[in-house]
Amino acid sequence: MRYITIALAKGRLAKTTLAMFEQIGITCEEMKDKDSRKLIFVNEELKLKFFLAKAPDVPTYVEYGAADIGVVGKDTILEEGRRLFEVLDLGFGKCKMCVAGPKSANDLLQHHDLIRVATKYPNIAKDYFYNKKHQTVEIIKLNGSIELAPIVGLAEVIVDIVETGSTLRENGLDVLEEICPLSARMVVNQVSMKMENERITKLITDLRGLL
Ligand code: PRP
Repeated sequence: MRYITIALAKGRLAKTTLAMFEQIGITCEEMKDKDSRKLIFVNEELKLKFFLAKAPDVPTYVEYGAADIGVVGKDTILEEGRRLFEVLDLGFGKCKMCVAGPKSANDLLQHHDLIRVATKYPNIAKDYFYNKKHQTVEIIKLNGSIELAPIVGLAEVIVDIVETGSTLRENGLDVLEEICPLSARMVVNQVSMKMENERITKLITDLRGLL
């Protein structure tokens, strides 16, 4: 039996995923050692390997088959646009991709003005404004604290993730338009899905049973 390799997006997502795996009898004790600098963890008995990667890299590992399976947010899947199968909504990490800004920016959106849009997700923003809204905009890529952009005058609106809404609220911004709901998803390499169908399907079925 060959190893099945699972790539997890570093952080909260990985922790919740591992807790779910434990509930279906898949454990990886090695991974719990916080002081360890190891990058890859093995469960010899079940012939599974786990590794942690930066979220945007998870779909890349899965498309190339370096990981058979990945767990990552829907935002990253949409942004990266990799060829893979999205097989399961894990139901946690729920939030929304939104257009946000000061209330005054509503008019600019309504009138299809040429506005500047700051975001960590240029592909999602491009798809939304160009293909869905048919509005020409200038997209400015940022790497974090996106809410700053309309406050300091870099952009009129932002495209960003809204979970509780408190970051927007505390900065005097509002959700102006909702783009799509997001949550953690399981993705599978297209060849692995065929070659390891039995083991991967069992994993999906067990996880679905939990949900
Ligand atoms: C995310 C997102 C928002 C915030 C939304 O940022 O980009 O800024 O969380 O959460 P809320 O609606 O519950 O306030 P993150 O904390 O990941 O950091 P970043 O700004 O560096 O991307």
